[in-house]
Amino acid sequence: MQPKARITHLPVYQPGKPVDEVKRELGLTKVTKLASNENPFGCSPKAKEAIVAIAEQANIYPDGASVLLKDAVAALYGVDPEQIVFGAGSDEVILMIARAFLSPGDETIMADRTFPQYRHNAEVEGATVVEVPLKDGTHDLEAMLAAVTDRTKIVWVCNPNNPTSTIVTADEVESFLERIPSSVMVVLDEAYVEYVVDPRFPNALELIKRYPNVVTLRTFSKAYGLAGLRIGYGIGRAELIRSINQVREPFNTTSFAQAAALAAVQDQAFIASCREANAAGIVYLREQFDRLGLKSFPAHGNFVLVDCARDAKTVYEELLKKGVIVRGGHTASIGFPTAIRVTVGSAEQNKEFVEALEAVLQETAVAAE
Ligand SMILES: Cc1ncc(COP(=O)(O)O)c(C=O)c1O
Repeated sequence: MQPKARITHLPVYQPGKPVDEVKRELGLTKVTKLASNENPFGCSPKAKEAIVAIAEQANIYPDGASVLLKDAVAALYGVDPEQIVFGAGSDEVILMIARAFLSPGDETIMADRTFPQYRHNAEVEGATVVEVPLKDGTHDLEAMLAAVTDRTKIVWVCNPNNPTSTIVTADEVESFLERIPSSVMVVLDEAYVEYVVDPRFPNALELIKRYPNVVTLRTFSKAYGLAGLRIGYGIGRAELIRSINQVREPFNTTSFAQAAALAAVQDQAFIASCREANAAGIVYLREQFDRLGLKSFPAHGNFVLVDCARDAKTVYEELLKKGVIVRGGHTASIGFPTAIRVTVGSAEQNKEFVEALEAVLQETAVAAE
């Protein structure tokens, strides 16, 4: 049996290595995972309570329209519930956007390097991917604009960008939106928005009011700490969201995810405390990288891409032996051969990582002599 020709070259997604696998393979008892930009502080205790309470209803299908959660998110952001669509993670919202809007022959523009799922889903739909190199690790919006043709359907802007953690500013995004044809959808993927403290960061919700072609993606997987439950969402004009809903599976988010997300939205104090700890973690890591003579891009999400100035695979493997899992830049999904992407952990985890990294740098320097 032959699959569709256009999917045969696609890579199977390689997630960050699970903690239990590393413990087993390397005979370690303690392992710190800083590989998937998860929240080191877990999730709101209120979300945990909601998960336990909803267990009673495990035999009942979830609310396919996620009405309660939609109302809560709409109230949080001051948008209409019809402007929101939920997915099994924002991954699924990316899939649905590609499914609803991309056809063979269409072009779609994204940065090189950025989150790999834009490319993946565009290729599944047979669209032509146009990649525009990052400039100093940041989206080059001018070059992306110059790449627009009358075949362009979607431009993906990952802000902060995974894997570099850099941002494009409100001024840059606005100037871009002023000039891009309104027939081109602009997806602002803001998976890490809750972590951003830079006042220059755009307000996507205001942009949606002014530009009918803007959709923003957000998730409960990062600051909200609910990655295991798989729930994320898109916000845009109601007409656009309706098209995305037309390709959505009937019960694509679980009742557990909806209940936990609803409770999590109502605990903004938890989000604020995670944002604060993350900002302090970035400052700490930056200081340590400076001390070690390593360059990193200015980080705005809950992760940092740091150039170790040596083969990333070696650094990744040596860190693994010391019980620290990061994401190596040698992998296709990251694409920075001498860098590693590390999630900002708790203060204790950050310290463990820095100690392990320092030791690895010393060992690999000796090996190179
Ligand atoms: C930029 C970006 N967008 C989307 C996602 C998908 O997240 P989820 O499907 O868990 O919501 C991720 C996850 O790492 C991401 O980094």
